[in-house]
Amino acid sequence: MKSFLAFIALACVVSASPFESEQVPFGVDYQHPDFPGYDLSALRLIEMEGQPPVFWTELEKIQAKARGIKFFDITDTRNLGTLPRLQVKASFPSPNATEKVKPIIETLSTKGPEENLRVFSGFRTRHYRSDTGRQSQVWLKKRIAEITSEWGSKSLQNKISISDFPHSWGQNSIITRINGSSNTDDGVVIIGAHQDSTNTWPFLPAPGADDDGSGSVTILESYRALLAADFHPERSIEFHWYSAEEGGLLGSQAVAQAYEGRVNVLAMSQFDMTAWVKRGTREEVGIIGDFVDLPLTKFNKQLVETYLDIPWVDTECGYACSDHASWGKAGFPSSFTIESTFGNSNKNIHSANDRIDVSDEFSFSHMLEFSKLAVAFAVELGGVSN
Ligand SMILES: *[C@@H]1O[C@H](CO)[C@@H](O)[C@H](O)[C@H]1NC(C)=O
Ligand SMILES: *[C@@H]1O[C@H](CO)[C@@H](O)[C@H](O)[C@H]1NC(C)=O
Repeated sequence: MKSFLAFIALACVVSASPFESEQVPFGVDYQHPDFPGYDLSALRLIEMEGQPPVFWTELEKIQAKARGIKFFDITDTRNLGTLPRLQVKASFPSPNATEKVKPIIETLSTKGPEENLRVFSGFRTRHYRSDTGRQSQVWLKKRIAEITSEWGSKSLQNKISISDFPHSWGQNSIITRINGSSNTDDGVVIIGAHQDSTNTWPFLPAPGADDDGSGSVTILESYRALLAADFHPERSIEFHWYSAEEGGLLGSQAVAQAYEGRVNVLAMSQFDMTAWVKRGTREEVGIIGDFVDLPLTKFNKQLVETYLDIPWVDTECGYACSDHASWGKAGFPSSFTIESTFGNSNKNIHSANDRIDVSDEFSFSHMLEFSKLAVAFAVELGGVSN
């Protein structure tokens, strides 16, 4: 009985959020040497669904996130969505480039994603304010450059740029662009994931294998296969690896703000968590249906039906739940696909257990289905110029 009570007490400590227990000494004056300049007392402007913006400290942001509250941190992007948009009404016809897409998706492999994710989830944390988060970003950019020179033809490499999109907090977003052959007024096609990870208590380890290391290496594999196929698009295609999604969509909002009024975006597709197949459930692609562009979402369902080996399932994830929301706010069509229904998704995220080897529910073959989806999205919407 005594040990049973002790077990209950321990379970309560473990399940409580860290800053409600006494494990971690903290307060707004807490500083961590590996998180230079991360001031927990700094005020941030926060936007939640249907409410006027409020000021919170960085610590209050951490506490709100631990309670599952979703928000944009709009401190540096207050005007996002206020400029007249360039987008002319986009329409997404049924997939019809089967002959182009199929041979490319047959070349996709789990080998690169496994190797890349072992390194990427090996950083202690990829938190956007941390030294290791900065190092992981430098590594990712180097990896993109290596893949480009290894798999891209010379003529394709001449159309590719790999750039840092700098942010004040240190970990930059990465933008890799394949220039299209046609006029840029047609709009660019964006495929995104977020490179940062976090623990609920940000100073603890956060391997972020699923959230969102999985999406990051999923789209990198799609990029590799497009290069290997010598894919010269008509429209420009961009692959984005955002920083600071976990801080309230900071990186993607900054990029969307830079594009708004300057660049036309035809469509944006977000890949955030692509690896988990919960034991006892059917393997499927979760298609988010709330706060997304509905015609683009319908198009994604058609892509799944045409090109993937598993079915889709409708699901929802709430306001500002990943980087597609920043593009939606900017007025561009955006969509989001995830590993399963939101309810069946990986519950180890935001902890030291978000690891590849935590369970055989972590599946590289499941991730590969999402690489197919990203390839199909790029080829169907980007068009082939050669
Ligand atoms: C697919 O349809 C689009 C729009 O209707 C068209 O522009 C494109 O040429 C078609 N592609 C193929 C491969 O038939
Ligand atoms: C891609 O196109 C843009 C816009 O036309 C141009 O500024 C840029 O130099 C091009 N990049 C490459 C690598 O050709």
